[in-house]
Amino acid sequence: KNIVILISGRGSNMEAIVRACASERWPARIAAVVSNRPDAPGLAFAAAHGIATAVVEHGGFADREAFDAALADVVDGFSPDLVVLAGFMRVLTLSFVGRYAGRMLNIHPSLLPSFPGLRTHERALQAGVTLHGATVHFVTPELDHGPIVVQGAIPVTAADDAGSLARRLLAVEHTIYPRAVRWFVEGRLTLAGLRVTVTPPEP
Ligand code: GRF
Repeated sequence: KNIVILISGRGSNMEAIVRACASERWPARIAAVVSNRPDAPGLAFAAAHGIATAVVEHGGFADREAFDAALADVVDGFSPDLVVLAGFMRVLTLSFVGRYAGRMLNIHPSLLPSFPGLRTHERALQAGVTLHGATVHFVTPELDHGPIVVQGAIPVTAADDAGSLARRLLAVEHTIYPRAVRWFVEGRLTLAGLRVTVTPPEP
């Protein structure tokens, strides 16, 4: 299976997926890492690991539709079976989301459906939750609302601030995101309508 990973920055989730794909010998390859920012630090990691990289700068396009059309052209050039959003910080249009329906995943740093959107750690602290977490979900048109695949949670203590939550949660993200992607490339994770199914591995 061909995986195309979209990033905008650091790319630590992308890195976790690249490493797991190699070390666990997934039936898959990372066909490309694509960024909307030329200075995304994650691009260097991908290139150093022999992965094709591409940049589609959103600034150069008249509107979201034009950007997404160009992005889809580049992504499709790598024949993806799965598109993985890993810290990709652009809201995607209906046509882009529809094109990859059932084969595009995202990770969001909250226990959805709580706290869609930005500044999730701050908002979790403000709300006084005692559990925080991250969610891998299929991407659907409504931002951060797609069917949930897997979640990981951490306790919130009185000593926590947004930075400590982000740091502890990132380690959880690096566990659950590769797991979900692996399920998909093994053909064990499917979306039918809004229903997610994960089947057991072959014996
Ligand atoms: C992660 O916290 C992810 O949940 C969110 O953006 C951050 C990306 O981090 N969507 P990285 O680029 O994978 O290091």
